Amino acid sequence: MSTLNRVVPIIEMLTMKKLILSMTVAIALSNLAILPAQAAGPKPYTVTNGNKLDVDTYKGYKLYRNWCARCHGTYGQGLAGPNLAASLNKISYEEFMKTVAAGKTGQIGMMPAWQSNQTVMQGRDNIYSYLKARADGAIGEVKPEKMQ
Ligand code: HEC
Repeated sequence: MSTLNRVVPIIEMLTMKKLILSMTVAIALSNLAILPAQAAGPKPYTVTNGNKLDVDTYKGYKLYRNWCARCHGTYGQGLAGPNLAASLNKISYEEFMKTVAAGKTGQIGMMPAWQSNQTVMQGRDNIYSYLKARADGAIGEVKPEKMQ
């Protein structure tokens, strides 16, 4: 056997190792890139007994009632503003976040912007959870209670 014949497989092995290593690194990096997006995404809700909400979703209902209900109805069923239980079946999470921050003027009327209201801005995810539970029919037009 010539020296070359022994060297070539070693080089091939090293190249494979490098390839696998760089692939592993690439996969790890792409996972890292996804993480922050997931953390900022919609939070799940839990409803039991038809009206008992997990702590965060209940917080969302409280915020909703304080800041949104006068235009969108006590349980999101619509008043001067549109039915948000119906809206959340149509608009995306991102659109919801944007509309709440920047407001919206359309055919129905004028929705104020909330970007200077820290309480609403920090609670947007929780408000979304409550309204998503309404949109999914997990909770109806009933008074929510906090899960014990
Ligand atoms: C002063 C009344 C008023 C208040 C308070 C209000 N809204 Fe609105 N909202 C409206 C009106 C009117 C529209 C419809 C705008 C249009 O498209 O003509 C609207 C639209 C929206 C939409 C878009 C719906 C769709 O189908 O595109 C979302 C989402 C929304 N409001 C969420 C909220 C949330 C969350 C709050 C509380 C933080 C809130 N609104 C408070 C009046 C209000």
